[in-house]
Amino acid sequence: MENKELEQTLVLIKPDALKNSLTGYVLSQLSQFHTGLIFAGSKIVSVSKMLADEHYAEHRGKVFFPSLIEYISGLIHFTGEPWRRRVIALVYQGADAVKKVRDISGPTNPHIARDTRPGCIRALGTLVPLKDDQGNDVGERMDNLIHASATPDEAEREIKLWFKPGDIPPAMHAYPVDTCQDFYYLKGNKLSMTHEPGSICFLAPGNTAWKSDLKALSNLKDGKEASCSLEAVVAKHLINERPEGSS
Ligand code: RTP
Ligand code: MG
Repeated sequence: MENKELEQTLVLIKPDALKNSLTGYVLSQLSQFHTGLIFAGSKIVSVSKMLADEHYAEHRGKVFFPSLIEYISGLIHFTGEPWRRRVIALVYQGADAVKKVRDISGPTNPHIARDTRPGCIRALGTLVPLKDDQGNDVGERMDNLIHASATPDEAEREIKLWFKPGDIPPAMHAYPVDTCQDFYYLKGNKLSMTHEPGSICFLAPGNTAWKSDLKALSNLKDGKEASCSLEAVVAKHLINERPEGSS
């Protein structure tokens, strides 16, 4: 990134923080007064399986993956209250945004956070044992209140996954955008260029989109390899647009 002041990072205030009314605390810890960072974007998100899966793609196949997806989707902390299942997604901007937010968040494991960095945000988290069908311990779920991008590259992938350019003021765009020239539809988790009954139009001519998304879509429609999956492009366009499971 040429302009250091434009560095951005993604923060998610996770369902356990919302349930425990820690939102104000987290926002205060991350405030411009403490970090020098400013808001570039914010939204309340009902997290779909598609979005959760893409966000934590690097953990697919690990023993804690299913519980991690349930956790970030709000299924664990708001089991009987689907309308409360949400996270707050935020983009912070400023010099060293990624490192500053990671430092205040602290280590991934809340017990290690308490031992080694008392006072960091994740020191207020909890560990929950995970059991297999026979009741044997197979690992743990780490309810650690906040997600923070780990590197500038991860921040770019994650901000483009959760936010459309239109969610962020144009003067704060950290990544190139372009104008879409085609209609793009989703039908049964497949990409289509023409409308069919039941398909969803997620991009249309004239829409502003991340340039890398438009390149990926162009490659995907031609059956070529793309820099990201169709789901990674589509998920943000479906945020809060339709109930989980409908398509
Ligand atoms: P995050 O992505 O949520 O900011 O967390 P992180 O970078 O500190 O850690 P990462 O390795 O990316 O893990 C993502 C989330 O997965 C859960 N996790 N559980 N049981 C385990 O060994 C384990 N490892 C990771 C945590 O909820 C972590 O935040
Ligand atoms: Mg991570």
